[in-house]
Amino acid sequence: MGEQDSSKGMHPSFAGVIQQRARLRDKLARIKHKIGVYSAKGGVGKTTVAVNLAYTLSKMGKSVGLLDADIDCPNLPMFLGIEERIDTSSVPFKPVVKEGVRVASTAMLIDEASKPIIWRGPMITKMLGEMFEGIDWGELDYLIIDLSPGTSDAPLTIMQLLHMDGFVIVTTPQKIASVNSGRSGLMARKLNVSLLGVVENMSGGAPSSNTNELLGVLGTDLLGTVSLDDNFNRLSDSGKVPVLHSEKIRKEFEEIARKLVS
Ligand SMILES: Nc1ncnc2c1ncn2[C@@H]1O[C@H](COP(=O)(O)OP(=O)(O)OP(=O)(O)O)[C@@H](O)[C@H]1O
Ligand SMILES: [Mg+2]
Repeated sequence: MGEQDSSKGMHPSFAGVIQQRARLRDKLARIKHKIGVYSAKGGVGKTTVAVNLAYTLSKMGKSVGLLDADIDCPNLPMFLGIEERIDTSSVPFKPVVKEGVRVASTAMLIDEASKPIIWRGPMITKMLGEMFEGIDWGELDYLIIDLSPGTSDAPLTIMQLLHMDGFVIVTTPQKIASVNSGRSGLMARKLNVSLLGVVENMSGGAPSSNTNELLGVLGTDLLGTVSLDDNFNRLSDSGKVPVLHSEKIRKEFEEIARKLVS
């Protein structure tokens, strides 16, 4: 997977962004692949796919980091049962390691993680920039980035600031999901960020006609389907990673990860 120069899609007056982007390219040079998990639609399973993909890659012998880029609702630590805070007394910060995966979230930086975070776009952009400047991920094969829904603030910042390998788009079988996941894919295209493929989550097995339409619109491939399965809720609600506890879920994610890696 090659990196693309997404500064082409940027207005030239974004001098600060361009400088920070160049600095982050050097700072994050020891991360081989940076992959975003994204959909403009809320609740389709972005965090679920990001978490399970990260742990599947880790079980395949890759060194993996997992970043929560959802600044408003940083859910990642809850999905992983992490209550530990990142030690901010010395810079650079170290991510928290959970069963072999290096994890960072703004929820690990604040005192009361369940309090509402009411920020305008520039604050979100600043926070994400500071996280990338401040965290020492070390050497990684993959950094998986869990995005927030929508097509502004956090997704836009990630696309503009980082040299991403690309985005995995998550959808569900419903038309409303494919339309809004389509928006995310088209946004990535507009900003010259690659699409690595689509995951149909909460799937009945074969991809729905809406998902097939989405693949056509985006001109990308299906990475795989993930079944609608109550084990996701049961396990994630108790801070357990589904691929580490369910054979069926593990197999589905192994297929997705194999396609992604190849
Ligand atoms: N395949 C699945 N089967 C059943 N439940 C699922 C599945 N995937 C995700 N869920 C559940 O759906 C809920 C929403 O999932 P998740 O938080 O991953 O979505 P999201 O897209 O990250 O949401 P947000 O837009 O709020 O960030 C969670 O409770 C999760 O456990
Ligand atoms: Mg989420």
